[in-house]
Amino acid sequence: RPILRGDYRPPAWLVDHVDLELELAAESTRVLAHLDVRRNPEALDREPLRLSGVELKTRRVLVDGQPLADRQRTMDGESMVIGGVPDVARITTEVEIHPERNTALEGLYAAGSSLLTQCEAEGFRKITWFPDRPDVMATFRVRLIADRARYPLLLSNGNQLESGELEDGRHYAVWEDPFPKPSYLFAVVAADLAVLEDHFTTRSGRQVALKVYSEPVNLHRLDHAMASLKRAMAWDEERWGLEYDLDVYHIIATHDFNMGAMENKSLNIFNARYVLADPDTATDADYEAVEAVIGHEYFHNWTGNRVTCRDWFQLTLKEGLTVFRDQEFTADLRSRAVKRIADVATLMARQFPEDAGPMAHSVRPERYIEINNFYTATVYEKGAEVVRMYQTLLGREGFRRGLDLYFERHDGQAVTCDDFLAAMADANDRDLTQFARWYAQVGTPRLEMTTDYDHERGHYILRFRQSLSAHPDNEQRGPLMVPVKIGFLGPDNQPLPVTRVGEDGEGAETRLLVLTNVDAEFRFDQLPPDALPSVLRDFSAPVRLDYDWSDEQLARLAGHDPDPFSRWQAMRRLAERVLTAAIEAGARLPDAVELLIAAWKAVLEDETLDPALAAELLSLPSEAELAQQRDPVDVDCIHESRKALLMRLSQVLEPVLRARYLACRDGAAWSDSPEAVGRRALSNLILNLMLDGQCEAADGLAVDHYESADNMTDRMGALKALVHGRVGAADRALRGFEDRYRDDPLVMDKWFAVQASVAGADAVRRIEALMAHPAFSLKNPNKVRALLGTFGLHNPTGFHAADGSGYALMGRVIRELDGINPQVAARLATVFNRWQAYGAERAGRMRGELEAIADKKGLSPDVEEIVKAALRAG
Ligand code: ARG
Ligand code: ZN
Repeated sequence: RPILRGDYRPPAWLVDHVDLELELAAESTRVLAHLDVRRNPEALDREPLRLSGVELKTRRVLVDGQPLADRQRTMDGESMVIGGVPDVARITTEVEIHPERNTALEGLYAAGSSLLTQCEAEGFRKITWFPDRPDVMATFRVRLIADRARYPLLLSNGNQLESGELEDGRHYAVWEDPFPKPSYLFAVVAADLAVLEDHFTTRSGRQVALKVYSEPVNLHRLDHAMASLKRAMAWDEERWGLEYDLDVYHIIATHDFNMGAMENKSLNIFNARYVLADPDTATDADYEAVEAVIGHEYFHNWTGNRVTCRDWFQLTLKEGLTVFRDQEFTADLRSRAVKRIADVATLMARQFPEDAGPMAHSVRPERYIEINNFYTATVYEKGAEVVRMYQTLLGREGFRRGLDLYFERHDGQAVTCDDFLAAMADANDRDLTQFARWYAQVGTPRLEMTTDYDHERGHYILRFRQSLSAHPDNEQRGPLMVPVKIGFLGPDNQPLPVTRVGEDGEGAETRLLVLTNVDAEFRFDQLPPDALPSVLRDFSAPVRLDYDWSDEQLARLAGHDPDPFSRWQAMRRLAERVLTAAIEAGARLPDAVELLIAAWKAVLEDETLDPALAAELLSLPSEAELAQQRDPVDVDCIHESRKALLMRLSQVLEPVLRARYLACRDGAAWSDSPEAVGRRALSNLILNLMLDGQCEAADGLAVDHYESADNMTDRMGALKALVHGRVGAADRALRGFEDRYRDDPLVMDKWFAVQASVAGADAVRRIEALMAHPAFSLKNPNKVRALLGTFGLHNPTGFHAADGSGYALMGRVIRELDGINPQVAARLATVFNRWQAYGAERAGRMRGELEAIADKKGLSPDVEEIVKAALRAG
């Protein structure tokens, strides 16, 4: 059943050109396709032509204009196998599809009053018969026909060649994309939308028309998206020398979308949440996310489209690289320190659990049943860390040389992660053979560090031992090449120059060590025996580092490490120690809490510190993250321990918190300057803390904060504080919010999410009531994520309610959703992943739900793959 990476074979047939005609209507769309096919000279043997098709009503199939006799075509699963095709031929098919019935949102589907497509990974086969694999690249010419009144806008990839009127109120448009592309980048839009237009002149003088579309009511919310697009285009030229290559670039916002966005050539289709933004409806985090995702999809034009993936096992080739690029984009435009911390925090919160879960896979997976299940944090975010390590090892210039060579060699091709590695190695004359293991290893590698001092010779010694997790795919896997950035603090907490034994002169304060063996030893002279090591600065490799720093040492690093990431990491470790000790003592805080309080106080009182960075330093690990590290997981004790810590911190520090809060609230009108964004982040964090701590008069502050808010960041921050603090005024605020934003689906997502995360066993009843709300729909992925995703992932005491009601609700939803949208159902099903760690009673109930899902008749392969893996792990 699973598809194996090792089974790759070059396509037996190529398609040079595709001519499509779509007669578009929501109930039924007719698709006429002409494929210019020829035998692939590189094919391993002479196989018949195979075309993939799913849920197509086939009207006719012709070869070189001749109808096909029935015996010439046979079905093999999703494939139509056609025998006797001449080595060069034109295949014609005509099919009928039903966009309105397509609730899976894959292929051509109806979204509101629009028709649009999502083809990655394997959606094109739901539109027409085709060898639907990324190493088959064709030029496309697309003729669209539709009712003019209903669909005045007709778009596809590339440039528009002509358009005009037809009889019966219909019209047509013809589009041509000169760049050969895989079918997954094909897109069509038929809609009635408003547009914001602008233009960009590339470095070499090309005038590019930029068009961002949304429903007319949201036209005023497109400016930030447009500005972000222009910044992305300029940044890609400046940082990487990459220019846009067509005369037009379209972005379409839709409310019905399975993922974040899609990089279809010149016709990006976006989840509206990553396009629409104005201060009244979008938070600062939304603003940053819009900019990042617009950048991400734009950057795919080179890393993904011009150079694409040979097969879906190589997904990280484009996704890891493009995430790395969008991370750098944000870092260059905003605060590099805050961005790095936020990215690593996300990796630890989302990817580390994948590594430890039943679906653990390498960044380049070895096998899959449903490829949609592998659009994961591992392929994306850990993949980005792998790309970042090349840059760490080769330096910025070396990395750039490697990327230049990659484009020089592979523009217009469908390639592999090995090709990427080869370009990096060849451009820098480096042997990266060992580095390739990062593509194959599964799980989070562990690095154990010990320190020693050779008094005789005056050497300070760092020793490392690396290990991989126990996983069949890791057997006989040798050691990884691990870049480790280090530094030392002196007794006065000042950074020390680092000199390795044998080196002359004074070393820099941060040095790169490259580990290549299981055991590695590094000696330094000119360091005092009590130098304090700071290790894995900038998170230079995606590993778990173990070293037994004392609590005091962590507090020193948290206060003084010159590397902001390391400060954050030390603060996190210290908080985790305090919380772990508390959890083990039945929610009683250990003495080490005093060190944490002092570290927090220093951060709060440091007026020179960027408030956005302060907010990162003051964020505690979530209950879900604490649960990850425990077996068995005591859901309630984790909750109580975290609450006890929040109470203590906020009560002891109340005057400091209040002062910093007031200093952040300067009363100036809304602005999106980094400075203002940072102040809002910190003031909202403090507000929530004071409510968690039940500080005196905090309720009043929250009500004030809510009522005076002139932007969504403050409104949401205060609403969360009121609702989670169970303040009396919360219900009125929720009702007022609902009245105001009833018709705004994106804002209502926030309203659902803030309620879905309120802790406690009564959460289940609340979720059920919210599911009956008129604004909720299981058919809308954003709503499912906002309400049920939040409940399952961010509300442990609710989801794991002892009577099993949270599990039963989730099980029911997954079974129903499976029949509507398998991709979204499969994502949701991962909430059961670590079921066996929750104690016998809860484990039994979760297992029961998993089995009930597995037993459902007609279960999708998407959900089946996830659920069976979870059950096997028991
Ligand atoms: N390539 C898109 C992006 O990362 C994601 C599309 C994934 N879609 C899917 N159905 N798996 O920008
Ligand atoms: Zn992407």
